[in-house]
Amino acid sequence: MITKPKGTNDLYGKESKIWKYIEEVMDSIMEKYNYNYIRTPLFESSELFHRGIGDSTDIVTKETYDFKDRGDRNMTLRPEGTAGVVRSFIEHKMYGESLPVKVYYNGTMYRYERPQAGRERELTQFGMEILGSNDPLSDAEIISVAVNIYKMLGLKNIKVEINSLGDKESRDRYREALVNYFKPHMKDLCEDCNERINKNPLRILDCKVDDEKDIMKNAPTTIDYLNEESKKRFEQVKEYLDILEVEYVVNPKIVRGLDYYNHTVFEIKVDTESISNLALGAGGRYNGLVKQLDGPDTACIGFATGLDRLVMALKEQVVEVPIKDYLDCFIMYVNEEEKKYATYLSQELRMAGFICDTEYTSRSLKAQFKQADRLNSKYLIILNSEDINNGQVKIKNNETKEEDLIEIEYLIYYLDEHLTEQDSFQIDDLMHEHCHCDDDCCDGACKHHHE
Ligand code: HAM
Repeated sequence: MITKPKGTNDLYGKESKIWKYIEEVMDSIMEKYNYNYIRTPLFESSELFHRGIGDSTDIVTKETYDFKDRGDRNMTLRPEGTAGVVRSFIEHKMYGESLPVKVYYNGTMYRYERPQAGRERELTQFGMEILGSNDPLSDAEIISVAVNIYKMLGLKNIKVEINSLGDKESRDRYREALVNYFKPHMKDLCEDCNERINKNPLRILDCKVDDEKDIMKNAPTTIDYLNEESKKRFEQVKEYLDILEVEYVVNPKIVRGLDYYNHTVFEIKVDTESISNLALGAGGRYNGLVKQLDGPDTACIGFATGLDRLVMALKEQVVEVPIKDYLDCFIMYVNEEEKKYATYLSQELRMAGFICDTEYTSRSLKAQFKQADRLNSKYLIILNSEDINNGQVKIKNNETKEEDLIEIEYLIYYLDEHLTEQDSFQIDDLMHEHCHCDDDCCDGACKHHHE
């Protein structure tokens, strides 16, 4: 038997319905915030990631899936979504449109990591980017949308940790301070950190081997090296976060593993057993990246969350996800003539908007009843040649077992009338359910209360 590659997953059955639901919620929220869906290729020129994410990052040095295509070009399966979005922004001259450009994506990324809970080799990321705004409001918006997505899905105990790396001047000063601080202690640090000191000293702070050592705990923090302008900017971001009612803590140790960040960086964590030490989502500002990839100087900020980790967190918190797992009706028959009519009728009902299925293998009626139960069908349409010739069908409520013989031409009206409103799940209902209005009398229609 051929099995799936290590670090990948098959998505099917109930699990795929949960994913679909999450994606629906995300799409719906993105629409409200006016972000447009973007899809970029699964593979790009390797150069994009080397120049974009950084030659000395773990992702590029250890984790990319690189290959040569048949034309001998160096290609890489995307390890993240931001570099591709920026490439597309430049290539299609989106900077010429009205700015900012607000986009979101949802797709598979590839990282050759050691697979473990919440660490896949093929992972799915939902991400969003604002390109062309340096306003601190955009930093706060990105963080608050991320939080709102988690809340809307019903996740609890979300922790937002923010930090600022400052502008280039602040970052350079900090880099120098870190090198001076760590240099005399290199023999106490791991092999990776010894390499990082010259290439990318900020990454020493991300070390998972030495992180409990005092030398790490007492290392200088970015905040102490911010120049006045960067400090002011960070204060403004916090002010907007307060207006948007986002709770956060400042964690001066967050530096992030990708080279492109400056100013705001953040991680969102959730208190669940298996992924409490991993970020559920993360992002930050990357004002230099567009220029670095040969585009015009453009300020940007973004965020991405792993769906694999998100689903794990929802499961561990036993969050009930409202998934559609039923049929409106199942069409049953006995003979060949009735089967032909079932074929016609099932298509008619589907086109009229009902979730409908029928028997394919002409099993006994008893087996068909069982199948309808398994599929959780609300109504059974039981065909019979004599009824069909009289222009009628038998329809049975599968819960109450009440039966009616009705004119075929009224079938659609009958189903419409009997399948109640609550059967169709609306994302907007969920948004109202999650209203955080303090007003005791709030009926969930938060718009009224906040007006
Ligand atoms: P990142 O921190 O590398 O940032 O990844 C973002 C999220 O992707 C993580 O918080 C995690 O949920 C998920 N993730 C990453 N690696 C794995 C993995 N091996 N298995 C499962 N999930 C994983 C970025 O990728 C940036 N592009 C985010 C960003 C967007 N910054 C600005 N815009």
